[in-house]
Amino acid sequence: MTKRIAIIGAGPSSLAQLRAFAAAKRKGADIPEVVCFEKQSDWGGLWNYTWRTVVDEYGNQCHGSMYRYLWSNGPKEGLEFADYTFDEHFGKPIASYPPRAVLFDYIKGRAEKAAVRDMIRFSTIVRDVRALDGGGFAVTSRDEVADIESCEFFDKIIVATGHFSVPNVPEYTGFDQFNDRILHAHDFRDAREFSDKDLLILGTSYSAEDIGSQCWKYGAKSITASHRTAPMGYNWPDNWHEVPKLDCVEGRTAHFINGTSKDVDAIILCTGYKHHFPFLPDDLRLKTANRLATADLYKDVVWTKNPNIFYLGMQDQWYTFNMFDAPAWWVRDCIMERIDLPSAEVMIRDVIDRIATEDALADDYGAIEYQGAYTMELVAETDYPSFDVSASNKAFFEWKRHKKKGIMDFRNYSYTSPITGTEAPPHHTPWKDAMDDSLESYLEI
Ligand SMILES: Cc1cc2nc3c(=O)[nH]c(=O)nc-3n(C[C@H](O)[C@H](O)[C@H](O)COP(=O)(O)OP(=O)(O)OC[C@H]3O[C@@H](n4cnc5c(N)ncnc54)[C@H](O)[C@@H]3O)c2cc1C
Ligand SMILES: NC(=O)c1ccc[n+]([C@@H]2O[C@H](COP(=O)([O-])OP(=O)(O)OC[C@H]3O[C@@H](n4cnc5c(N)ncnc54)[C@H](OP(=O)(O)O)[C@@H]3O)[C@@H](O)[C@H]2O)c1
Repeated sequence: MTKRIAIIGAGPSSLAQLRAFAAAKRKGADIPEVVCFEKQSDWGGLWNYTWRTVVDEYGNQCHGSMYRYLWSNGPKEGLEFADYTFDEHFGKPIASYPPRAVLFDYIKGRAEKAAVRDMIRFSTIVRDVRALDGGGFAVTSRDEVADIESCEFFDKIIVATGHFSVPNVPEYTGFDQFNDRILHAHDFRDAREFSDKDLLILGTSYSAEDIGSQCWKYGAKSITASHRTAPMGYNWPDNWHEVPKLDCVEGRTAHFINGTSKDVDAIILCTGYKHHFPFLPDDLRLKTANRLATADLYKDVVWTKNPNIFYLGMQDQWYTFNMFDAPAWWVRDCIMERIDLPSAEVMIRDVIDRIATEDALADDYGAIEYQGAYTMELVAETDYPSFDVSASNKAFFEWKRHKKKGIMDFRNYSYTSPITGTEAPPHHTPWKDAMDDSLESYLEI
Protein backbone atom coordinates (compact mmCIF):
# COMPACT_ATOMS: atom_id res chain seq x y z
CA MET A 1 0.00 0.00 0.00
CA THR A 2 1.33 3.46 -0.85
CA LYS A 3 1.96 5.51 2.25
CA ARG A 4 -0.14 8.67 2.66
CA ILE A 5 1.61 11.79 3.94
CA ALA A 6 -0.19 14.95 5.09
CA ILE A 7 1.71 18.24 5.03
CA ILE A 8 0.01 21.09 6.86
CA GLY A 9 0.75 24.54 5.41
CA ALA A 10 2.17 25.60 2.03
CA GLY A 11 4.72 28.21 3.08
CA PRO A 12 8.45 28.09 2.25
CA SER A 13 9.08 25.12 4.60
CA SER A 14 6.35 23.03 3.03
CA LEU A 15 7.28 24.04 -0.51
CA ALA A 16 10.79 22.78 0.27
CA GLN A 17 9.22 19.47 1.36
CA LEU A 18 7.13 19.19 -1.81
CA ARG A 19 10.17 20.05 -3.91
CA ALA A 20 12.17 17.33 -2.11
CA PHE A 21 9.58 14.67 -2.97
CA ALA A 22 9.37 15.95 -6.56
CA ALA A 23 13.17 15.74 -6.87
CA ALA A 24 13.14 12.08 -5.73
CA LYS A 25 10.35 11.28 -8.19
CA ARG A 26 12.29 12.91 -11.03
CA LYS A 27 15.19 10.59 -10.21
CA GLY A 28 12.87 7.58 -10.62
CA ALA A 29 11.96 6.87 -6.97
CA ASP A 30 8.50 5.67 -5.93
CA ILE A 31 7.28 8.47 -3.70
CA PRO A 32 4.37 8.27 -1.23
CA GLU A 33 1.03 9.97 -1.86
CA VAL A 34 1.46 13.50 -0.53
CA VAL A 35 -1.46 15.80 0.30
CA CYS A 36 -0.64 19.36 1.34
CA PHE A 37 -3.35 21.38 3.12
CA GLU A 38 -3.16 25.18 2.91
CA LYS A 39 -5.75 27.41 4.54
CA GLN A 40 -4.96 30.39 2.31
CA SER A 41 -5.97 30.52 -1.36
CA ASP A 42 -2.34 30.71 -2.52
CA TRP A 43 1.09 29.37 -1.54
CA GLY A 44 4.09 31.20 -0.06
CA GLY A 45 3.00 31.38 3.60
CA LEU A 46 3.95 34.72 5.17
CA TRP A 47 5.33 35.90 1.80
CA ASN A 48 1.80 35.78 0.35
CA TYR A 49 0.85 39.32 1.41
CA THR A 50 -2.65 40.02 2.65
CA TRP A 51 -4.27 43.34 3.53
CA ARG A 52 -6.51 41.46 5.96
CA THR A 53 -5.90 41.47 9.70
CA VAL A 54 -7.37 39.52 12.63
CA VAL A 55 -9.44 36.97 10.64
CA ASP A 56 -9.40 35.76 7.04
CA GLU A 57 -12.41 35.68 4.72
CA TYR A 58 -13.64 32.49 6.39
CA GLY A 59 -13.34 33.71 9.97
CA ASN A 60 -10.15 31.73 10.64
CA GLN A 61 -7.16 33.42 12.26
CA CYS A 62 -5.41 35.60 9.66
CA HIS A 63 -1.99 34.08 8.98
CA GLY A 64 -0.27 37.09 7.39
CA SER A 65 2.26 39.05 9.48
CA MET A 66 4.05 40.76 6.59
CA TYR A 67 3.43 44.38 5.69
CA ARG A 68 3.75 46.70 2.74
CA TYR A 69 7.25 47.97 1.91
CA LEU A 70 8.88 44.98 3.66
CA TRP A 71 12.37 44.34 2.31
CA SER A 72 14.48 41.34 3.21
CA ASN A 73 16.13 42.00 6.57
CA GLY A 74 19.16 39.88 5.68
CA PRO A 75 21.19 39.58 2.47
CA LYS A 76 19.68 37.22 -0.11
CA GLU A 77 23.12 35.58 -0.37
CA GLY A 78 22.43 34.06 3.08
CA LEU A 79 19.20 32.35 2.00
CA GLU A 80 19.75 31.32 -1.64
CA PHE A 81 18.50 27.82 -2.63
CA ALA A 82 21.47 25.62 -3.59
CA ASP A 83 19.36 23.96 -6.33
CA TYR A 84 17.68 27.10 -7.73
CA THR A 85 19.78 30.24 -7.76
CA PHE A 86 18.76 33.88 -8.04
CA ASP A 87 20.67 34.03 -11.33
CA GLU A 88 18.62 31.13 -12.70
CA HIS A 89 15.32 32.67 -11.63
CA PHE A 90 15.86 36.29 -12.64
CA GLY A 91 18.23 35.68 -15.55
CA LYS A 92 20.54 38.44 -14.34
CA PRO A 93 22.31 39.44 -11.12
CA ILE A 94 20.08 41.39 -8.74
CA ALA A 95 20.82 43.50 -5.66
CA SER A 96 21.21 41.92 -2.21
CA TYR A 97 18.12 43.02 -0.20
CA PRO A 98 15.02 42.31 -2.29
CA PRO A 99 11.59 43.51 -1.21
CA ARG A 100 8.87 40.97 -0.37
CA ALA A 101 7.39 40.76 -3.89
CA VAL A 102 10.77 39.81 -5.38
CA LEU A 103 11.43 37.07 -2.81
CA PHE A 104 7.86 35.78 -3.22
CA ASP A 105 8.49 35.55 -6.98
CA TYR A 106 11.71 33.61 -6.34
CA ILE A 107 10.01 31.10 -4.00
CA LYS A 108 7.15 30.65 -6.48
CA GLY A 109 9.59 30.15 -9.36
CA ARG A 110 11.16 27.10 -7.77
CA ALA A 111 7.81 25.60 -6.76
CA GLU A 112 6.47 26.11 -10.29
CA LYS A 113 9.55 24.47 -11.80
CA ALA A 114 9.02 21.47 -9.52
CA ALA A 115 5.35 21.31 -10.64
CA VAL A 116 4.04 20.67 -7.11
CA ARG A 117 0.94 22.88 -7.12
CA ASP A 118 -1.36 19.91 -7.82
CA MET A 119 -0.31 18.36 -4.51
CA ILE A 120 -1.83 21.31 -2.57
CA ARG A 121 -5.45 21.69 -1.50
CA PHE A 122 -5.88 25.45 -1.16
CA SER A 123 -8.43 27.22 1.06
CA THR A 124 -8.47 24.03 3.14
CA ILE A 125 -7.73 24.36 6.83
CA VAL A 126 -6.68 21.44 9.00
CA ARG A 127 -8.89 21.53 12.07
CA ASP A 128 -7.93 18.38 13.92
CA VAL A 129 -5.27 15.64 13.93
CA ARG A 130 -5.59 12.49 16.07
CA ALA A 131 -3.13 9.61 16.48
CA LEU A 132 -4.99 6.31 15.95
CA ASP A 133 -4.53 3.28 18.19
CA GLY A 134 -3.55 1.01 15.30
CA GLY A 135 -1.03 3.54 13.93
CA GLY A 136 -1.45 6.48 11.58
CA PHE A 137 -3.54 9.61 11.99
CA ALA A 138 -7.04 10.87 11.34
CA VAL A 139 -6.90 14.36 9.81
CA THR A 140 -10.00 16.53 9.75
CA SER A 141 -9.95 19.41 7.31
CA ARG A 142 -12.46 21.92 6.00
CA ASP A 143 -12.60 22.94 2.35
CA GLU A 144 -13.69 26.54 2.97
CA VAL A 145 -14.85 27.16 -0.62
CA ALA A 146 -17.08 24.08 -0.78
CA ASP A 147 -17.85 24.50 2.94
CA ILE A 148 -17.33 20.79 3.53
CA GLU A 149 -15.49 19.06 6.35
CA SER A 150 -13.84 15.69 5.78
CA CYS A 151 -11.76 13.21 7.74
CA GLU A 152 -9.02 11.12 6.12
CA PHE A 153 -6.35 8.63 7.12
CA PHE A 154 -2.63 9.41 6.83
CA ASP A 155 0.45 7.39 7.82
CA LYS A 156 2.63 10.40 8.65
CA ILE A 157 2.08 14.06 9.41
CA ILE A 158 4.39 16.98 8.61
CA VAL A 159 3.45 20.18 10.45
CA ALA A 160 4.73 23.24 8.54
CA THR A 161 2.38 25.94 9.77
CA GLY A 162 5.06 28.48 10.75
CA HIS A 163 5.45 30.19 14.11
CA PHE A 164 5.42 33.91 13.37
CA SER A 165 1.70 34.31 12.99
CA VAL A 166 -0.03 34.11 16.36
CA PRO A 167 0.98 37.22 18.30
CA ASN A 168 2.28 37.39 21.85
CA VAL A 169 0.28 40.32 23.23
CA PRO A 170 1.30 41.64 26.67
CA GLU A 171 -0.86 44.09 28.58
CA TYR A 172 0.47 47.10 30.49
CA THR A 173 -1.48 49.20 32.99
CA GLY A 174 -3.50 51.87 31.23
CA PHE A 175 -3.77 50.16 27.84
CA ASP A 176 -7.52 49.89 28.34
CA GLN A 177 -7.78 53.70 28.68
CA PHE A 178 -5.43 54.66 25.81
CA ASN A 179 -7.25 56.88 23.32
CA ASP A 180 -5.58 55.89 20.08
CA ARG A 181 -4.22 52.80 18.27
CA ILE A 182 -2.60 49.89 20.09
CA LEU A 183 -1.68 47.12 17.70
CA HIS A 184 0.62 44.12 17.49
CA ALA A 185 3.23 43.86 14.69
CA HIS A 186 1.10 41.00 13.26
CA ASP A 187 -1.61 43.57 12.40
CA PHE A 188 0.75 46.27 11.08
CA ARG A 189 0.27 46.75 7.34
CA ASP A 190 1.20 50.24 6.09
CA ALA A 191 3.75 52.64 7.63
CA ARG A 192 2.02 55.61 5.99
CA GLU A 193 -0.74 55.28 8.60
CA PHE A 194 1.79 56.61 11.13
CA SER A 195 3.35 59.53 9.24
CA ASP A 196 3.46 62.66 11.45
CA LYS A 197 2.70 60.56 14.54
CA ASP A 198 4.67 60.04 17.73
CA LEU A 199 5.09 56.29 17.99
CA LEU A 200 5.90 54.00 20.90
CA ILE A 201 7.38 50.64 19.95
CA LEU A 202 7.75 47.82 22.48
CA GLY A 203 10.43 45.18 21.79
CA THR A 204 13.99 45.14 20.47
CA SER A 205 14.08 42.38 17.91
CA TYR A 206 13.58 42.38 14.13
CA SER A 207 9.96 43.54 14.10
CA ALA A 208 10.76 46.47 16.40
CA GLU A 209 13.81 47.46 14.39
CA ASP A 210 12.16 47.07 10.99
CA ILE A 211 8.67 48.44 11.71
CA GLY A 212 10.28 51.41 13.47
CA SER A 213 12.56 51.93 10.47
CA GLN A 214 9.62 51.69 8.03
CA CYS A 215 7.67 54.26 10.02
CA TRP A 216 10.72 56.53 10.17
CA LYS A 217 11.22 56.17 6.40
CA TYR A 218 7.58 57.02 5.67
CA GLY A 219 7.55 60.12 7.87
CA ALA A 220 6.75 59.30 11.51
CA LYS A 221 7.32 62.35 13.72
CA SER A 222 9.23 60.39 16.38
CA ILE A 223 9.96 56.83 17.40
CA THR A 224 10.34 55.85 21.04
CA ALA A 225 11.56 52.26 21.38
CA SER A 226 11.14 50.67 24.79
CA HIS A 227 13.24 47.68 25.83
CA ARG A 228 12.44 45.12 28.47
CA THR A 229 15.95 43.61 28.59
CA ALA A 230 18.52 45.68 26.66
CA PRO A 231 18.43 48.47 24.06
CA MET A 232 19.09 47.73 20.38
CA GLY A 233 22.00 50.16 20.51
CA TYR A 234 22.14 51.24 16.87
CA ASN A 235 23.12 54.70 15.77
CA TRP A 236 19.52 55.87 15.33
CA PRO A 237 18.33 59.04 13.56
CA ASP A 238 17.74 62.16 15.72
CA ASN A 239 14.00 61.57 16.15
CA TRP A 240 14.46 57.99 17.44
CA HIS A 241 15.07 57.37 21.15
CA GLU A 242 15.57 54.18 23.12
CA VAL A 243 14.03 54.07 26.60
CA PRO A 244 13.76 51.40 29.32
CA LYS A 245 10.75 49.19 30.01
CA LEU A 246 7.28 50.66 29.89
CA ASP A 247 5.75 51.09 33.32
CA CYS A 248 2.22 52.23 32.46
CA VAL A 249 0.14 54.46 30.21
CA GLU A 250 -2.00 57.37 31.43
CA GLY A 251 -4.16 58.93 28.74
CA ARG A 252 -1.70 59.45 25.86
CA THR A 253 1.33 59.53 28.16
CA ALA A 254 3.66 56.54 28.34
CA HIS A 255 5.67 56.29 31.58
CA PHE A 256 8.91 54.31 31.68
CA ILE A 257 10.54 52.63 34.67
CA ASN A 258 13.37 55.22 34.82
CA GLY A 259 10.80 57.93 35.58
CA THR A 260 10.78 59.51 32.08
CA SER A 261 7.62 59.82 29.99
CA LYS A 262 6.50 60.57 26.44
CA ASP A 263 3.17 61.52 24.86
CA VAL A 264 2.43 59.14 21.99
CA ASP A 265 -0.23 58.72 19.28
CA ALA A 266 0.12 54.98 18.78
CA ILE A 267 1.68 51.92 20.41
CA ILE A 268 3.01 49.04 18.33
CA LEU A 269 3.69 45.83 20.23
CA CYS A 270 6.66 44.17 18.53
CA THR A 271 6.60 41.54 21.23
CA GLY A 272 7.02 38.37 19.21
CA TYR A 273 4.90 35.34 18.39
CA LYS A 274 3.71 32.03 19.86
CA HIS A 275 4.09 28.48 18.62
CA HIS A 276 0.40 27.76 18.32
CA PHE A 277 -1.20 24.59 16.94
CA PRO A 278 -4.93 24.68 17.67
CA PHE A 279 -5.48 21.61 15.49
CA LEU A 280 -3.21 19.37 17.58
CA PRO A 281 -4.09 17.52 20.79
CA ASP A 282 -1.69 17.68 23.75
CA ASP A 283 0.04 14.38 22.91
CA LEU A 284 1.19 15.65 19.50
CA ARG A 285 1.65 19.35 20.21
CA LEU A 286 5.10 20.96 20.20
CA LYS A 287 5.69 23.34 23.09
CA THR A 288 8.89 25.28 22.64
CA ALA A 289 10.41 28.72 23.01
CA ASN A 290 11.54 30.59 19.90
CA ARG A 291 15.10 29.24 19.85
CA LEU A 292 17.57 27.56 17.49
CA ALA A 293 17.42 24.15 19.20
CA THR A 294 13.73 23.40 19.66
CA ALA A 295 12.33 21.27 22.47
CA ASP A 296 11.37 17.64 21.81
CA LEU A 297 12.42 17.49 18.14
CA TYR A 298 15.20 15.11 17.10
CA LYS A 299 17.39 17.01 14.63
CA ASP A 300 14.82 19.79 15.08
CA VAL A 301 12.27 17.84 12.99
CA VAL A 302 11.18 14.47 14.43
CA TRP A 303 8.69 14.60 17.33
CA THR A 304 10.48 12.40 19.85
CA LYS A 305 7.21 11.37 21.51
CA ASN A 306 5.78 9.97 18.26
CA PRO A 307 8.28 9.76 15.39
CA ASN A 308 5.53 9.55 12.76
CA ILE A 309 4.91 13.26 13.18
CA PHE A 310 7.47 15.80 11.90
CA TYR A 311 7.70 19.55 12.34
CA LEU A 312 9.40 21.87 9.83
CA GLY A 313 10.64 25.42 10.38
CA MET A 314 9.97 25.60 14.12
CA GLN A 315 13.39 26.99 15.09
CA ASP A 316 14.32 30.67 15.33
CA GLN A 317 15.82 31.72 12.05
CA TRP A 318 19.09 33.28 10.97
CA TYR A 319 19.12 31.02 7.94
CA THR A 320 15.78 30.57 6.20
CA PHE A 321 15.08 29.24 2.69
CA ASN A 322 18.28 27.18 2.28
CA MET A 323 18.04 26.00 5.89
CA PHE A 324 14.41 24.88 5.30
CA ASP A 325 15.63 22.67 2.44
CA ALA A 326 17.99 20.63 4.62
CA PRO A 327 15.33 19.22 7.00
CA ALA A 328 12.86 18.85 4.12
CA TRP A 329 15.24 16.58 2.19
CA TRP A 330 16.09 14.77 5.43
CA VAL A 331 12.43 14.19 6.38
CA ARG A 332 11.71 12.92 2.88
CA ASP A 333 14.52 10.37 3.21
CA CYS A 334 13.34 9.37 6.65
CA ILE A 335 9.78 8.79 5.35
CA MET A 336 11.14 6.91 2.32
CA GLU A 337 13.20 4.71 4.70
CA ARG A 338 16.54 5.86 3.31
CA ILE A 339 17.45 7.16 6.79
CA ASP A 340 16.85 5.06 9.91
CA LEU A 341 15.76 6.72 13.11
CA PRO A 342 17.71 5.80 16.25
CA SER A 343 16.11 4.70 19.54
CA ALA A 344 13.94 7.10 21.57
CA GLU A 345 16.79 7.47 24.11
CA VAL A 346 19.24 8.58 21.41
CA MET A 347 16.73 11.05 19.98
CA ILE A 348 16.05 12.56 23.41
CA ARG A 349 19.82 12.82 24.06
CA ASP A 350 20.20 14.63 20.73
CA VAL A 351 17.64 17.27 21.83
CA ILE A 352 19.39 17.75 25.19
CA ASP A 353 22.80 18.11 23.49
CA ARG A 354 21.57 20.63 20.92
CA ILE A 355 19.93 22.75 23.60
CA ALA A 356 23.13 22.69 25.71
CA THR A 357 25.24 23.63 22.67
CA GLU A 358 22.96 26.54 21.85
CA ASP A 359 22.93 27.71 25.48
CA ALA A 360 26.75 27.80 25.45
CA LEU A 361 26.97 30.03 22.34
CA ALA A 362 28.78 33.29 23.10
CA ASP A 363 26.95 35.66 20.77
CA ASP A 364 25.02 36.15 17.52
CA TYR A 365 28.08 35.19 15.47
CA GLY A 366 28.14 31.84 17.26
CA ALA A 367 24.41 31.45 16.64
CA ILE A 368 24.88 32.04 12.89
CA GLU A 369 27.66 29.44 12.76
CA TYR A 370 25.54 27.02 14.80
CA GLN A 371 22.63 27.22 12.34
CA GLY A 372 24.97 27.02 9.35
CA ALA A 373 26.50 23.86 10.82
CA TYR A 374 23.04 22.39 11.52
CA THR A 375 22.09 22.98 7.89
CA MET A 376 25.27 21.26 6.67
CA GLU A 377 24.78 18.34 9.07
CA LEU A 378 21.43 17.50 7.47
CA VAL A 379 22.55 18.30 3.93
CA ALA A 380 25.41 15.80 4.31
CA GLU A 381 22.92 13.01 5.06
CA THR A 382 20.88 13.55 1.87
CA ASP A 383 21.43 14.25 -1.84
CA TYR A 384 20.64 17.97 -1.46
CA PRO A 385 23.45 19.88 -3.23
CA SER A 386 26.04 21.04 -0.73
CA PHE A 387 27.16 24.65 -0.70
CA ASP A 388 29.84 26.80 0.90
CA VAL A 389 28.19 27.53 4.23
CA SER A 390 31.21 29.47 5.47
CA ALA A 391 30.58 31.95 2.63
CA SER A 392 26.94 32.28 3.79
CA ASN A 393 28.09 32.74 7.40
CA LYS A 394 30.45 35.44 6.15
CA ALA A 395 27.58 37.25 4.39
CA PHE A 396 25.67 37.28 7.71
CA PHE A 397 28.74 38.52 9.62
CA GLU A 398 29.20 41.38 7.14
CA TRP A 399 25.49 42.16 7.40
CA LYS A 400 25.79 42.55 11.17
CA ARG A 401 28.77 44.86 10.80
CA HIS A 402 26.96 46.93 8.18
CA LYS A 403 23.98 47.34 10.52
CA LYS A 404 26.26 48.64 13.27
CA LYS A 405 27.79 51.10 10.82
CA GLY A 406 24.46 52.53 9.67
CA ILE A 407 21.09 51.04 10.53
CA MET A 408 19.30 52.98 7.76
CA ASP A 409 22.04 52.19 5.20
CA PHE A 410 22.84 48.49 5.62
CA ARG A 411 20.54 47.48 2.76
CA ASN A 412 22.68 49.44 0.30
CA TYR A 413 25.55 46.93 0.43
CA SER A 414 26.23 44.06 -1.99
CA TYR A 415 27.38 40.50 -1.29
CA THR A 416 28.74 37.54 -3.24
CA SER A 417 26.58 34.45 -3.86
CA PRO A 418 27.98 31.35 -2.11
CA ILE A 419 26.37 29.22 -4.81
CA THR A 420 27.29 30.97 -8.09
CA GLY A 421 30.05 33.37 -7.03
CA THR A 422 28.03 36.20 -8.59
CA GLU A 423 28.64 39.58 -7.00
CA ALA A 424 25.35 41.44 -6.53
CA PRO A 425 25.11 44.83 -8.22
CA PRO A 426 24.21 47.80 -6.00
CA HIS A 427 20.53 48.71 -5.97
CA HIS A 428 19.64 51.75 -8.08
CA THR A 429 18.32 53.74 -5.09
CA PRO A 430 19.42 53.84 -1.44
CA TRP A 431 16.87 51.95 0.69
CA LYS A 432 15.76 55.01 2.65
CA ASP A 433 14.81 56.82 -0.58
CA ALA A 434 13.26 53.81 -2.36
CA MET A 435 9.54 54.26 -1.71
CA ASP A 436 8.35 51.88 -4.44
CA ASP A 437 8.86 48.30 -3.31
CA SER A 438 7.37 46.64 -6.41
CA LEU A 439 9.16 43.88 -8.29
CA GLU A 440 9.12 46.04 -11.43
CA SER A 441 10.86 48.93 -9.69
CA TYR A 442 13.42 46.71 -7.96
CA LEU A 443 14.35 44.86 -11.16
CA GLU A 444 13.94 47.98 -13.35
CA ILE A 445 11.64 46.23 -15.83
C1 LIG B 1 7.18 40.10 9.51
C2 LIG B 1 8.10 39.00 9.09
C3 LIG B 1 9.12 39.27 8.21
C4 LIG B 1 10.01 38.28 7.82
N1 LIG B 1 11.01 38.62 6.96
C5 LIG B 1 11.90 37.68 6.57
C6 LIG B 1 12.96 38.03 5.68
O1 LIG B 1 13.13 39.19 5.30
N2 LIG B 1 13.79 37.07 5.25
C7 LIG B 1 13.62 35.77 5.65
O2 LIG B 1 14.36 34.92 5.18
N3 LIG B 1 12.64 35.42 6.53
C8 LIG B 1 11.79 36.34 7.00
N4 LIG B 1 10.80 36.01 7.89
C9 LIG B 1 10.80 34.63 8.45
C10 LIG B 1 9.73 33.66 7.90
O3 LIG B 1 9.36 32.94 9.05
C11 LIG B 1 10.25 32.71 6.83
O4 LIG B 1 10.81 33.42 5.74
C12 LIG B 1 9.18 31.76 6.24
O5 LIG B 1 8.02 32.44 5.83
C13 LIG B 1 8.80 30.62 7.16
O6 LIG B 1 8.16 29.65 6.37
P1 LIG B 1 7.20 28.52 6.96
O7 LIG B 1 6.71 27.75 5.78
O8 LIG B 1 7.90 27.78 8.01
O9 LIG B 1 6.01 29.30 7.66
P2 LIG B 1 4.94 30.32 7.06
O10 LIG B 1 5.55 31.19 6.03
O11 LIG B 1 4.34 30.98 8.25
O12 LIG B 1 3.85 29.39 6.33
C14 LIG B 1 2.97 28.55 7.06
C15 LIG B 1 1.75 28.23 6.20
O13 LIG B 1 0.88 27.35 6.93
C16 LIG B 1 -0.48 27.71 6.67
N5 LIG B 1 -1.32 27.21 7.77
C17 LIG B 1 -1.28 27.59 9.08
N6 LIG B 1 -2.20 26.89 9.79
C18 LIG B 1 -2.82 26.04 8.92
C19 LIG B 1 -3.84 25.06 9.07
N7 LIG B 1 -4.40 24.78 10.26
N8 LIG B 1 -4.26 24.40 7.97
C20 LIG B 1 -3.69 24.65 6.75
N9 LIG B 1 -2.72 25.56 6.55
C21 LIG B 1 -2.27 26.25 7.64
C22 LIG B 1 -0.42 29.22 6.56
O14 LIG B 1 -1.54 29.76 5.89
C23 LIG B 1 0.91 29.43 5.82
O15 LIG B 1 0.71 29.47 4.42
C24 LIG B 1 9.88 36.98 8.32
C25 LIG B 1 8.85 36.69 9.23
C26 LIG B 1 7.98 37.70 9.62
C27 LIG B 1 6.89 37.40 10.60
N1 LIG C 1 12.12 41.32 6.78
C1 LIG C 1 12.13 41.98 7.88
O1 LIG C 1 12.66 43.02 7.87
C2 LIG C 1 11.49 41.47 9.16
C3 LIG C 1 10.70 42.34 9.85
C4 LIG C 1 10.07 41.90 11.01
C5 LIG C 1 10.24 40.60 11.47
N2 LIG C 1 11.03 39.75 10.78
C6 LIG C 1 11.20 38.35 11.24
O2 LIG C 1 10.11 38.01 12.09
C7 LIG C 1 10.51 37.08 13.07
C8 LIG C 1 9.98 37.49 14.45
O3 LIG C 1 10.64 38.65 14.94
P1 LIG C 1 9.98 39.51 16.11
O4 LIG C 1 10.84 40.69 16.32
O5 LIG C 1 8.54 39.74 15.79
O6 LIG C 1 9.96 38.54 17.39
P2 LIG C 1 11.15 38.05 18.36
O7 LIG C 1 12.43 37.98 17.62
O8 LIG C 1 10.67 36.84 19.03
O9 LIG C 1 11.30 39.22 19.45
C9 LIG C 1 10.32 39.48 20.41
C10 LIG C 1 10.65 40.78 21.14
O10 LIG C 1 9.56 41.08 21.99
C11 LIG C 1 10.07 41.45 23.26
N3 LIG C 1 9.03 41.17 24.25
C12 LIG C 1 8.37 40.00 24.47
N4 LIG C 1 7.46 40.15 25.46
C13 LIG C 1 7.56 41.44 25.87
C14 LIG C 1 6.90 42.19 26.87
N5 LIG C 1 5.96 41.63 27.65
N6 LIG C 1 7.23 43.49 27.02
C15 LIG C 1 8.19 44.04 26.25
N7 LIG C 1 8.86 43.38 25.29
C16 LIG C 1 8.55 42.09 25.11
C17 LIG C 1 11.34 40.64 23.42
O11 LIG C 1 12.13 41.26 24.38
P3 LIG C 1 13.21 40.50 25.30
O12 LIG C 1 14.49 40.57 24.52
O13 LIG C 1 13.22 41.31 26.52
O14 LIG C 1 12.73 39.09 25.50
C18 LIG C 1 11.90 40.74 21.99
O15 LIG C 1 12.61 41.94 21.84
C19 LIG C 1 12.04 37.00 12.95
O16 LIG C 1 12.38 35.82 12.25
C20 LIG C 1 12.41 38.19 12.09
O17 LIG C 1 13.56 37.95 11.28
C21 LIG C 1 11.68 40.18 9.63
